[in-house]
Amino acid sequence: VLEEKDAVEAAPCPHAASRAHSLDAIPGPTNWPLVGSLVELLRKGGLTRQHEALVDYHKKFGKIFRMKLGSFESVHIGAPCLLEALYRKEGNYPQRLEIKPWKAYRDLRDEAYGLLILEGKDWQRVRSAFQQKLMKPTEVVKLDSKINQVLVDFVSRIGNINNNGKIEDLYFELNKWSFETICLVLYDKRFGLLQETVNEEAMNFITAVKTVSTLCKIKLKTNANRAPDDLIGDILHQSCLSKKELYAAITELQIGGVETTANSMLWAIFNLSRNPGAQRKLLNEIREVVPPDQDPCGEHIKSMPYLKACLKESMRLSPSVPFTSRTLDKDTVLGDYAIPKGTVLMINSHALGSNEKYFDEGKLFKPERWVRENSTINPFAYVPFGIGKRMCIGRRLAELQLQLAMCWLVRDFEIVATDNKPLDVIHSGLLVPNRELPVAFIRR
Ligand code: HEM
Repeated sequence: VLEEKDAVEAAPCPHAASRAHSLDAIPGPTNWPLVGSLVELLRKGGLTRQHEALVDYHKKFGKIFRMKLGSFESVHIGAPCLLEALYRKEGNYPQRLEIKPWKAYRDLRDEAYGLLILEGKDWQRVRSAFQQKLMKPTEVVKLDSKINQVLVDFVSRIGNINNNGKIEDLYFELNKWSFETICLVLYDKRFGLLQETVNEEAMNFITAVKTVSTLCKIKLKTNANRAPDDLIGDILHQSCLSKKELYAAITELQIGGVETTANSMLWAIFNLSRNPGAQRKLLNEIREVVPPDQDPCGEHIKSMPYLKACLKESMRLSPSVPFTSRTLDKDTVLGDYAIPKGTVLMINSHALGSNEKYFDEGKLFKPERWVRENSTINPFAYVPFGIGKRMCIGRRLAELQLQLAMCWLVRDFEIVATDNKPLDVIHSGLLVPNRELPVAFIRR
């Protein structure tokens, strides 16, 4: 996600084409009749390896390439200069690729759409109802006590279920943590997913998912006695959204916020385990800024540049969401090409983050690159939350949640690597490790 400040400071695009070429001139893998490049993609390891195949294609064809899979055609952009051009030419209602099954499901149940699938003016109306509460740093920082309430339980749980440092199914534990946090933020209610009652845990989790929808409706009915930090109540009160719209929006905020955050935390834990030097430096910063008798909070984070750099570096090296998309709502010139309205663009944050052209020694975890005085990193090369008006609305909340979690964990535990073998990454919607993380949490 690019902030306005970053975008203005970015260097002008050197590829402002005087005479743009047509879509057909964009290079790409061989487009066979009927199948397009599907067979080639399957040969490169199939859909679970598509992130690697796309990086290869960017290496081979450069900043932009065109690909057809069956009848689905897309144009892939993986250069800061092209992202900047797209950002500057963006209209008022940017569109992502439709999620047809989700739309069909909502239609079938006669439910409204949320931000993930809304379009046009309706999207903008719902987006602006949440924008202030979720994207304004001074508003988001107020959520630190709720985030911390869950972290107290999470860190204690990591201590309790710790078997010689090992945590069984860490990813599931992290999903419960992020679910519990987003629910507390959205509904002001705890679900008890981090409790010790191990037998009923799985059951609780499933029940909790169902309870969310009921709870949301109850909250809407009882909005007369609102608490001061009641997000749903505030939005219903201050915006012109109907209850049905608000219910749909909240549902999709929750969908957007659980696994993405858990996944980013998983990768942050992994990267810190493999980089003990960076972890030590982070611990020193935590100890300097957070007095031993205090809990880390939003105010502390403001004076922790190395912590922020560690998170950025982890999300560059191991992004959770490898790419996002845009469906062009008007003819648009990007670099050397005139791309017609209706074209689907894929914005590849994974290819950008792993490109040596934009990040020297890009395979290494080097948080220092983000705190250098004269940093030359192009802000359009780091887009793990997407770009422009349609970027992730949960970005600030997720960042605060992840930064606080890193503080709490690193302060209490040394995160050690239990082996040094390479970890394979597979694409299953998000980028996930193909095996349990080889890490252990040793109490300091
Ligand atoms: C959209 C990533 C956390 C809710 C997105 C997009 C990305 C993304 C890449 C697409 C943006 C674009 O197309 O430009 C992430 C990552 C997260 C995270 C990596 C965690 C580290 C969250 C959280 C919430 C959330 C915590 C909820 C509070 C959404 C919603 C959208 C979205 C509703 C659609 C926004 C719109 O179209 O207006 N996210 N996200 N995300 N995210 Fe997140």
